[in-house]
Amino acid sequence: MLSEKSRPIIEATLPLVGERLGRITPNFYSRLFAAHPELLHGLFSRANQRNGEQQKALAGSIAAFASALVANPDLVPETMLSRIANKHTSLGITEDQYDIVYKYLFEAIAEELADVITAEIAEAWTEVYWLMANALIKIEKGLYAQQANDKMWMPWQVVEKNPAGTGAMTFVLEPADDTPVTAARPGQFVSVKVQLPDGLRQVRQYSLSADVDSTDRRVFTTKLDDGGEVSPVLHRNVQVG
Ligand SMILES: Cc1cc2nc3c(=O)[nH]c(=O)nc-3n(C[C@H](O)[C@H](O)[C@H](O)COP(=O)(O)OP(=O)(O)OC[C@H]3O[C@@H](n4cnc5c(N)ncnc54)[C@H](O)[C@@H]3O)c2cc1C
Ligand code: HEM
Repeated sequence: MLSEKSRPIIEATLPLVGERLGRITPNFYSRLFAAHPELLHGLFSRANQRNGEQQKALAGSIAAFASALVANPDLVPETMLSRIANKHTSLGITEDQYDIVYKYLFEAIAEELADVITAEIAEAWTEVYWLMANALIKIEKGLYAQQANDKMWMPWQVVEKNPAGTGAMTFVLEPADDTPVTAARPGQFVSVKVQLPDGLRQVRQYSLSADVDSTDRRVFTTKLDDGGEVSPVLHRNVQVG
């Protein structure tokens, strides 16, 4: 719940923060990747950083969360949080990483709002960040607890690769070791991590298209994006076996 003290401060500063988010988020990501270059290797999408999609997603979600709290201090926007938490857990995001994001996000906020920021404004936005972070951490812990194992990034083997119409390819995968597999539910997706020709590892999500409740197969169909990084590797470099 957003405190009585912070609510008017968030309400008063939301328009300014909203207006400066376009500067705060690139500032945040350049600080984050300067300190933790490993996060670009197999976690954040290089394409989303280049085209600004992830900056927009992060900024938009924080602004939407703060607006929702101002309107309803007791309620958290569950649907939005659930979507983010599902993405985060598909990437193996951990609780301790929220401290890292907090550090660089608030350094960026301090710099981009240097002309107006006071201790009270920083405290109120810190409260919003941790309300959002703790709500995400709680949902993410619940999602991790439903898994059949506590591992991330297990090896899977391609057992079939079939054309599925113009520019699309269906992949059928089976576990490449004996780690217990979680039964998937309709509507779920998998994160697939591959190594690019320049050595960088990148992750993309693919919806499970058949056999979804199976514990021994994953089936998904990818559309080739010629300008993309991962789908061309899946289509051209990844073979059965
Ligand atoms: C939940 C979920 C489920 C999904 N399910 C499926 C599915 O079932 N099947 C499927 O095919 N896809 C699915 N996707 C999309 C998939 O995850 C990938 O986004 C898609 O395969 C493209 O990835 P890519 O690495 O080939 O392209 P990326 O490298 O991610 O590039 C994406 C686009 O950005 C452009 N781009 C790159 N750099 C710049 C730049 N500097 N400026 C402007 N534009 C730039 C590229 O030209 C390209 O067109 C899903 C995504 C999500 C989030
Ligand atoms: C309160 C804190 C956070 C907020 C508000 C937040 C918000 C978001 C949002 C909105 C998305 C896009 C979701 C989608 O595509 O549907 C996202 C994706 C992502 N988040 Fe977070 N996040 C937070 C914390 C973290 C932390 C601690 C990490 C770990 C370093 C992290 C790593 C990622 C990654 C890697 C993606 C996918 C990005 C991509 O591949 O482009 N996030 N987050």
